[in-house]
Amino acid sequence: MELKRGVTFSDIKQRLDAVGQSHLLRFHEDLDAASQRGLLDQIAGIELERLPRLVEQYVKRKQAFAIPSDLEPAPCYARDAKTWNRADYRKKGEDLLRAGKIAAFTVAGGQGTRLGFDGPKGTFFGTAITKKPLFRCLAEWILAAQKRFGTIIPWYVMTSPLNHAETVAFFQHHGYFGLSERDVMFFSQGVLPSLDMATGNLLLAEKGMVATNPDGHGGSLRALWTSGAIDDMMRRGVEHLSYVQIDNPLARVIDPVFIGLHASAPDSSAEMSSKMVAKTDPGEKVGVFCRASGKVQVIEYSDLPRDKTEERNATGRLRFNAGSIAIHLISVDFVARLNAGDELSLPLHRAEKKVPYVDSSTGQTIQPPMANAVKLEAFVFDALPLCRSSIVYETDRIDEFAPIKNADGNDSPATCRDTQTERAARWLEAIGVSVPRKPDGKADCVIEVSPTTAWEADDLRNVSLPKSIERGAELAL
Ligand code: UD1
Repeated sequence: MELKRGVTFSDIKQRLDAVGQSHLLRFHEDLDAASQRGLLDQIAGIELERLPRLVEQYVKRKQAFAIPSDLEPAPCYARDAKTWNRADYRKKGEDLLRAGKIAAFTVAGGQGTRLGFDGPKGTFFGTAITKKPLFRCLAEWILAAQKRFGTIIPWYVMTSPLNHAETVAFFQHHGYFGLSERDVMFFSQGVLPSLDMATGNLLLAEKGMVATNPDGHGGSLRALWTSGAIDDMMRRGVEHLSYVQIDNPLARVIDPVFIGLHASAPDSSAEMSSKMVAKTDPGEKVGVFCRASGKVQVIEYSDLPRDKTEERNATGRLRFNAGSIAIHLISVDFVARLNAGDELSLPLHRAEKKVPYVDSSTGQTIQPPMANAVKLEAFVFDALPLCRSSIVYETDRIDEFAPIKNADGNDSPATCRDTQTERAARWLEAIGVSVPRKPDGKADCVIEVSPTTAWEADDLRNVSLPKSIERGAELAL
């Protein structure tokens, strides 16, 4: 939300009257001068003129997701296929890295509500033994890649107004995790107002503050532009962004094979590419790569109809099995193109949430017992169909997908620890170290490997290791 200079009470009142939202000024007179100013500036930054259309489209109606009639699974560069030359693409990716054409980009503006953690998610621990924060897990990949390719990989971190200051302070406190301060850039994503589910009205979170929510990771494509991050990349000669979410400490933040495919595969426009893993089961909560009208797109798990989710091909494999792990490569030119001319507009997705609000007749803060508001968000993968063409690359789940989303159960710190251990166990076994296993095949120990030590099995050959790992041991390499 941008601060508009010179906005007056009567300007704002007039704009609010025009869209039936003047209740936002109900407590204006009770506020001190600074809070009055803050409220007017906040309202000035909301696109009020767009509101009636949003209410009509997302509050009054719950638009069902329209499944295209020609929907088919998206083709992908399969891991084990002999139809493409991995080594060639890896070399192409490495050349781009050495030439300084690649930056890392992390979306870290989410609220981490499901995890029940009150703070920027990147400050939550991502490794089981050394308890490294998620931000450090990603930073170590960047450090390792910089060393390996003798290059600088600038890191752009998107925060939200809710966690920006805390995130920057965390990096400062930890000395940027060994990265150079001038190569780490932070910018905040935008927000959208939360809307009362019954009336479509804007809500007051406090007497002097409108209730808003971050505008989704899709907001990154606009914020990269408005923050000046894209200008910074152009100045540095960066051509592609390696996009990862903050919740996955196993993400290969920099992956030469993927970079090479994105930049030079014959069917890639080098605008935006994606990674997939095969879904474990129909119910797994990941978006699925599909194709319709010749364009790759992600359909969120909640939108894919059950018959498609469960459909299997002749070999018994799920037909729509390409699960999105939310890792993309995005070209700087593509982001610039999306932002040129008319304002970038991705579709919005609605979620019903409990949003505390100030009752405009009594001034009391109400904690709603059930969902009372509609929250709107844009998703970054909705930019895929805007590419001229887009490719999907299959990767190994154990190798790079162990998100931390929930406190327990699926996608939790416990499952993340197990996947990290399994990856490390496979690497150790590949170079002849014996790893204890339980009857069910799971490793009977906990192992974590920093990318600064190894980012594939072969790197462990240079590390001094025991011949076998003891049962129950904890090993941090
Ligand atoms: C997401 C994807 C899903 C994918 C899965 C893989 C969506 C809607 N779905 O699910 O297709 O299979 O990850 O793990 O994204 N974020 C922001 N700003 C926001 C909202 C989110 O920066 O306004 C960031 C979060 O900090 C996090 C990431 O985006 O890094 C994912 O957001 P989240 O809402 O947790 O997505 P999931 O439902 O887990």
